Amino acid sequence: MYKAIRNLALAGYCSISMLAITQSSNVTLPQDKGPDKINVSTYSPDLQKGYKVFTEKCSKCHTIARPINTTMTRVEWERYVKRMMHKPNSGINDSQGKTIFEFLAYDQENRKDKNPSAFFKSLSDEEIEKLKAQQH
Ligand code: HEC
Repeated sequence: MYKAIRNLALAGYCSISMLAITQSSNVTLPQDKGPDKINVSTYSPDLQKGYKVFTEKCSKCHTIARPINTTMTRVEWERYVKRMMHKPNSGINDSQGKTIFEFLAYDQENRKDKNPSAFFKSLSDEEIEKLKAQQH
């Protein structure tokens, strides 16, 4: 009997913390503290439009500085944009996701790859969990 109640309590606790994880980012990553703008004046008009979609859509759950200061390969960005799109209430549709990916892929190659040490590598899920544990 006691065990059943404890399991129930545990299940309740877990679903609440899962909700917190999926709703919005409740942890500060090193990237969040970096610059929160990109000078896109030399980018093509299409990419400048993409930058606008990116800043609107990717700042909903965490700082826009986070993706601005994260460096990844093109393939990783493709995967990452999909992962962010599929979070509950992301508000990002397929066509916006594609526009954002094209912007990020260009920006990676033409800005980040030229000065890789100025940016942060993305963290693994385990590393993010560790940071969360430290900050709570
Ligand atoms: C629905 C909420 C939500 C939206 C919208 C969202 N993200 Fe995220 N993002 C998260 C969460 C949650 C994490 C994981 C960290 C955490 O749990 O705090 C995260 C983490 C990240 C990271 C950190 C990677 C790392 O491991 O260091 C990057 C980069 C990122 N997001 C980019 C983006 C981009 C680009 C977009 C727009 C396409 C976007 N995010 C939109 C919720 C969101």
